[in-house]
Amino acid sequence: MNVHAQLAQAPLDEQTSAFADDVTEALSQHPKKLSPKYFYDAAGSELFEQITLLPEYYPTRTELEILRARGADIKAIIPKGAALVEFGAGATTKVRLLLNECDFGAYVPVDISGDFLNAQAAELRTDFPDLNVFPVTADFTAPFELPDAGKAMPKVGFFPGSTLGNFEPHEACGFLRSARAILGQGALMLIGIDLEKDERLLHAAYNDAAGVTGRFNMNVLVRINRELGGNFDLSAFAHRAIYNRERHRIEMHLISKKPQTVRVLGRSFTFRAGESIHTESSYKYSLERFAALAKGSGWTPKASWTDADKQFSVHALVASE
Ligand code: AVI
Repeated sequence: MNVHAQLAQAPLDEQTSAFADDVTEALSQHPKKLSPKYFYDAAGSELFEQITLLPEYYPTRTELEILRARGADIKAIIPKGAALVEFGAGATTKVRLLLNECDFGAYVPVDISGDFLNAQAAELRTDFPDLNVFPVTADFTAPFELPDAGKAMPKVGFFPGSTLGNFEPHEACGFLRSARAILGQGALMLIGIDLEKDERLLHAAYNDAAGVTGRFNMNVLVRINRELGGNFDLSAFAHRAIYNRERHRIEMHLISKKPQTVRVLGRSFTFRAGESIHTESSYKYSLERFAALAKGSGWTPKASWTDADKQFSVHALVASE
């Protein structure tokens, strides 16, 4: 039985069905726009890890450099025995720096992918035998409960990597408000934010010479073909990343190289030559614009650190009264 026939017969699981609804809606819109969260299946997460090692992609190594250089400053503001709540679970390099530097009572990684989370938790339990690790499988952009054992501890949120930059400004505000409500009064938040800079550096970071970012972008079409019985011809689309100066954001697009019709879940979607699917925005902030966003979202800026070239920033925020 081919994938189309199978999809017609089998009920979709909850996650695939949300993906199906979002994709059919995205492809029916003008302009076509899809959430960047759909990049991250196993292959997409692996491609993202490769991106973080690219010479052109400065954010990861620069944030690590800041966390290393400012370890003592960070330690000075973190209460002993606090629960470190990480929003999203990826590579553990950054959190390991904090765990090595500060005295946390517990580590609470929160991610929608339970399998990945539990594998990561097991590794950390081996390497930090005295640390309580309480993984929470949840969508961290929506309200979730902290584990009982961590509730009485002071809370420190951790949201590195400028993932906040992939949220639209109203979503970024919503996330910060929700994190404030989950972590509670007196909580601290450490958050990594990419900064505005020379457009040539931004362009190079999202159009790398080895083409890894292009494959990462294209992976969403691979997913649609596999999971939703799509018939996207990858060679008929091109990766494009451009800086939108007015909106302070890098935009990633998949551009149709010719007029074409694509079928997904038994439905047809037409593309004009040059038509785009907008797959991701990556907002870049100034220190002032980020501080204003934090203040308007229930947080008071306490400290911020950058690298010497002011490419990236790490902010400490305190939950406002
Ligand atoms: C995960 N996120 C912060 C990355 C970014 O830079 O916006 C995703 C990414 N997209 C292309 N390259 C990296």
